[in-house]
Amino acid sequence: MKHWVKRTHKELDQIISTALDRNVSYSKNVCLGVPASVLDQHVFYEHAAFLKDAPLLRAYVQNPNHIGCHTFGDSEPFFEGTHELEKEVIELLCVDIFKAQDHSCDGYVASGGTEANIQAAWIYRNYFISRHGAKQSDIALLSSSDTHYSVAKAANLLGIDMYSVPVNDNDRVMDEVQLDAVVKRSIENGIRFFIVFCNMGTTMFGSVDDPDVYKRVLDANKIQFKLHVDGAFGGFVYPVSDPVSHLNFANPIVDSITLDAHKMLQAPYGTGIFLARKGLMQHAYTKQASYVSGMDMTLNGSRGGVNAIAIWMILFTYGPFGWLEKINKLLYRTQWICDQLNKMGVVYYRHPKMNIVTIRSRYIIRALADKYKLVPDSHNDDPAWYKIVVMDHVSIDQLQAFIHDLKSGI
Ligand SMILES: Cc1ncc(COP(=O)(O)O)c(C=O)c1O
Repeated sequence: MKHWVKRTHKELDQIISTALDRNVSYSKNVCLGVPASVLDQHVFYEHAAFLKDAPLLRAYVQNPNHIGCHTFGDSEPFFEGTHELEKEVIELLCVDIFKAQDHSCDGYVASGGTEANIQAAWIYRNYFISRHGAKQSDIALLSSSDTHYSVAKAANLLGIDMYSVPVNDNDRVMDEVQLDAVVKRSIENGIRFFIVFCNMGTTMFGSVDDPDVYKRVLDANKIQFKLHVDGAFGGFVYPVSDPVSHLNFANPIVDSITLDAHKMLQAPYGTGIFLARKGLMQHAYTKQASYVSGMDMTLNGSRGGVNAIAIWMILFTYGPFGWLEKINKLLYRTQWICDQLNKMGVVYYRHPKMNIVTIRSRYIIRALADKYKLVPDSHNDDPAWYKIVVMDHVSIDQLQAFIHDLKSGI
């Protein structure tokens, strides 16, 4: 690990305080032109005693704006202190978790996985247009049928087609023959460039796609592509649970990655992350953003710097070994419930390195699903599956109670 270490609360507090001090101070400096200030002091009093030991809440009150992408070019100087913390987060994730070379990637803290996925599709659509002279109608999104619906949103917003490849019902693996058929059909429809969304933990199953399958089929069909990894769910689990994974920047076909810190990292909502190899962010540059210092190459405009600080705090509070222990604890609990289901002959899907267990609906009566707040694959039709996501609060005691009720058929 080059950047990821464990730090004490005192160290975190000092570093965040120094970063906040480097940001503009509306009380100490004259600052007339920026439409920004601290949180309203009638409501959120800056000197409240409880803020003393709470650096994240102090950052909330100071309310830094992290508009733009800070790993590339200039940024707003008013908030340069906390921008540094965001840059540290991005470099740590790229290098220490996703095996990139030093300073070879850009990234920013997006509002969530949806935004980060749309950012990826936006960049690649523009990339194919500007670098390869593509027409919008030549470009399509390609992903498995288990892919999150944010990819369909991206297709709709960007006005490009989306091709979905079926997966096997039992193992959730995309069939290479079916993929080839979909690609051939798309070529007949005039598609020449693909934006591939490769899942690192699907929403309903936690299943993980093999990027090499896409490469084999697309190369065989002589089709150019860019590959984005959607790790919104699995991004803080799978790289830890499967150290030989090649869903990372050491794999030359991986161009960019989505993560969600507000899922497995338990950061506040509003903390998605977009990471991309250098040379790509520029394709989302909006030249009309002339009043913003530096270049705005993000889908979001203004965004709270406190979100980046929250991610920074969580990563440095755990350190790499603390995080490994936490993930292993969740995987242990996941294995525990799988063992119980196996003994009962209940059919379910679980990727062996992930913390989601998705049970065939025929074993789950409605009252049981309601009692344990299981999530179905469909709220409209009769569900085929119900999932359990083994988060921090999902203890073996709770799982045991669920198994007990499942056995007694409530
Ligand atoms: C795999 C995957 N991608 C993207 C998203 C969208 O993330 P968000 O809800 O943070 O926008 C989700 C959310 O569940 C997801 O599971």
